[in-house]
Amino acid sequence: MAAAEKEEISVEDEAVDKNVFKDCSKIAFYRRQKQQLSKNSTYRALLNSVTTDKDSTRFQIINEATKVPLLAEVYGIERNIFRLKINEETPLKPRYEVPDVLTSKPSTVRLISCSGDTGSLILTDGKGDLKCHITANPFKIDLVSEKEVVMSINSLGQLYFEHLQIPPKQRTTKGNEESASINTSQENQEDLGLWEEKFENFVDVKANGPTSIGLDFSLHGFEHLYGIPQHAESHQLKNTGDGDAYRLYNLDVYGYKIHDKMGIYGSVPYLLAHKLGRTIGIFWLNASETLVEINTQPAVEYTLTQMGPAAAKQKVRSRTDVRWMSESGIIDVFLLTGPTPFDVFKQYSYLTGTQAMPPLFSLGYHQCRWNYEDEQDVKAVDEGFDEHDIPYDVIWLDIEHTEGKRYFTWDKKRFANPKRMQEMLRSKKRKLVVISDPHIKIDPDYSVYTKAKEQGFFVRNRDGSDFEGICWPGLSSYLDFTNSKVREWYSGLFAFPAYQGSTDILFIWNDMNEPSVFRGPELTLQKNAIHHGNWEHRELHNIYGFYQQMATAEGLLQRSKGKERPFVLSRSFFAGSQKYGAVWTGDNIADWSYLKISIPMLLTLSITGISFCGADVGGFIGNPDAELLVRWYQAGAYQPFFRGHATMNTKRREPWLFGEEYTQLIREVIRERYTLLPYLYSLFYHVHVASEPVMRPLWIEFPDELETFGVEDEYMLGSALLVHPVTEPKTTMVDVFLPRSNEIWYHSKTFAHWKGGCTVKIPVALNTIPVFQRGGSVVPIKTTVGKSTGWMTNSSFGLRVALSTKGSAVGELYLDDGHSFQYFHQNQFLHRRFSFCSSVLINSCADERGRYSSTCVVEQILFLGLKKEPSSVTTHSSDGKDQPVTFMYCAKTSTLKLEKLSLNIGYDWEVHIK
Ligand code: NOJ
Repeated sequence: MAAAEKEEISVEDEAVDKNVFKDCSKIAFYRRQKQQLSKNSTYRALLNSVTTDKDSTRFQIINEATKVPLLAEVYGIERNIFRLKINEETPLKPRYEVPDVLTSKPSTVRLISCSGDTGSLILTDGKGDLKCHITANPFKIDLVSEKEVVMSINSLGQLYFEHLQIPPKQRTTKGNEESASINTSQENQEDLGLWEEKFENFVDVKANGPTSIGLDFSLHGFEHLYGIPQHAESHQLKNTGDGDAYRLYNLDVYGYKIHDKMGIYGSVPYLLAHKLGRTIGIFWLNASETLVEINTQPAVEYTLTQMGPAAAKQKVRSRTDVRWMSESGIIDVFLLTGPTPFDVFKQYSYLTGTQAMPPLFSLGYHQCRWNYEDEQDVKAVDEGFDEHDIPYDVIWLDIEHTEGKRYFTWDKKRFANPKRMQEMLRSKKRKLVVISDPHIKIDPDYSVYTKAKEQGFFVRNRDGSDFEGICWPGLSSYLDFTNSKVREWYSGLFAFPAYQGSTDILFIWNDMNEPSVFRGPELTLQKNAIHHGNWEHRELHNIYGFYQQMATAEGLLQRSKGKERPFVLSRSFFAGSQKYGAVWTGDNIADWSYLKISIPMLLTLSITGISFCGADVGGFIGNPDAELLVRWYQAGAYQPFFRGHATMNTKRREPWLFGEEYTQLIREVIRERYTLLPYLYSLFYHVHVASEPVMRPLWIEFPDELETFGVEDEYMLGSALLVHPVTEPKTTMVDVFLPRSNEIWYHSKTFAHWKGGCTVKIPVALNTIPVFQRGGSVVPIKTTVGKSTGWMTNSSFGLRVALSTKGSAVGELYLDDGHSFQYFHQNQFLHRRFSFCSSVLINSCADERGRYSSTCVVEQILFLGLKKEPSSVTTHSSDGKDQPVTFMYCAKTSTLKLEKLSLNIGYDWEVHIK
């Protein structure tokens, strides 16, 4: 221990050889499932065992070889969701069921059993068109919609369930025979890793032996699948070959390889499938290591030669088979039946919660670096932004700000007076974010450590002692966030009196919470470490980081007595993490390929509920040249979480260090971000209340346009802006696909317009960001930009009204105090609707419940696509006052600009164009 303590811990400990991570061939449960399933063992449902209560329908299923009975439960859940649970009927001890992810017990709807012969059972919720058709032998479930089978479960017979067994040493001969589900002979032991699994120098001794589970789903007519973050991979999921499954296992992979299916920092075991006319989702609620195989059989046409010419050609529907495999736990799967992408989003958030409403400041620009050295440095960087007229909201402090990586402390030499520093930032209406990791330095003089130790709050070894592993501070123990008492206590550490030197402008960054354990197996906790309730780490690995973010957000909430919205960024995450804050894509590289892959990575997070996401602008590792940095800012400005960050041995790269030409470009785009904040904030309100992602792949906005299904180099921000970031060096032209032939798209700077349904070539210079406003939309903006969001509270609004082919447009604005929960408790918000139709723009109330008064006015309105010069423009206020408005019309660009207006944002008014 002493030796380890003296050792220097550096980034090298994190930046290890990629071979320390397993591929599928090194995962024993994968090998077991593959081997066993090749033997074609089948399950049979015992339909004479069916029982029904108000929540579920239950029946036994039994493996023909082992005869061990499993219990299947089918639930109908509100909003067209089905849930299937399969567990052992009488396990030797309880198996892990993931707690705390579902927001509450989902309301069930009684399933009615209708007809079905002796070999089958048909369940329906009585109202919908969906039926659950259960076949007894071999066991299979089909989800049927109007006679069309949407999805089949276990139709490939890949149901796999390793029942708990008595450890070999304790077995009597009889017991041994009974549990012979798998060949446990000595030779096989090694390869199958039943009770012990070796990897490199690590041995995983398994208290419960083999416990893995698996199941297949055939999605009929579906060829396009998405979801299951986090992978540095394309948005559309790829077919997996042998030994190449998508891995869901939260790991700290410094400079992760791209186009790879290995698991990185977070996991959401939820995928979506889409075809023309239907979107569905499969949410596999399991927190242990999980593998997903995907196999698409495209539609084929085949000829029936013996038949007459009319019937000669038949089309066989495409199908995608998805196979989930998890190391442990039970089968607990939710089938979200859509039918639209937005229905699926609502169904998923009904189960796991919606994106937390972020404080407004957190949508501004964040400036981070490992590390801002000291108070002086912070001050200089802060001033740099003002000197260069670049807005920003938050400066971040990485691990070096602490006393020897003891979180909740300050390095007294570097940050002698943290409150003074925060007061300086406060005076600029800016915030501070500091890091707080889950490992706690072993140090008898560090009160966080001693208090946690005393109370038994650390993850333990098998022998009951506290687990000790290495991370930034050297030897550390890891808080057991799965224990609600630990979370409660940890939340308390953020109280102002407890966290010395903290103020209410300080917010939190949870890093290394996969958790990262240097020199551990795959750089994480060993799977047989023990958590509260005596659960092995393997059962819940993927949810560890989720719990830290949950406890941190709760801590920030409590320190303000429930009044202020928290902001917590977490590197690790699980299904439902959206309730606690933001996530980012970890240690990317300053390379064009990483800029490019950040788009599909963020799109995937966005459709799996986690809207508040971003990638380190500039690339964390390495030094971007000025061109890459500019392009990255241009992409990041149109993504939900916008933070520049760099690792310690990189050159400084604050926006003004590359020469005025580049400073100007970065300034421009950060300012554009601030201009767009009213729109962005409104989108966050929408995802918060209605589960509509902020950043959207084209296919969800245009689900009936086949061409959009594979697009991942451009995306929609809300439903109004299409963004096509430039992700290649020296680009002079980009091909932008503009969807739907009956729509019209406007270039956001030149106002040139195109009819949709085609790919257009857009010339680009370094100052061009291909952003297009969709005809038919109104985008609210701010007309002046301040030093930070705090300086813009009272600044005026503008509206960008882009006319559809029919000459109309609609849009919304959501506004509140930007930081409290008054919007929720007191209805203190403004929600306005703008609609333009028959040459009249109307500002009306979109939600009568809201009452929030604002002195802000709409000062500017820009109409795009107005073909004729008006003869007059007048404003009409609700008190009956009419006023003529001076206007500028440009025939060349078909734009009409109204300026110097003074129309209160919160009042009803109209603008008439004649
Ligand atoms: C790893 C994180 O991914 C990175 O963003 C951070 O700067 C370092 N840890 C140091 O805390």
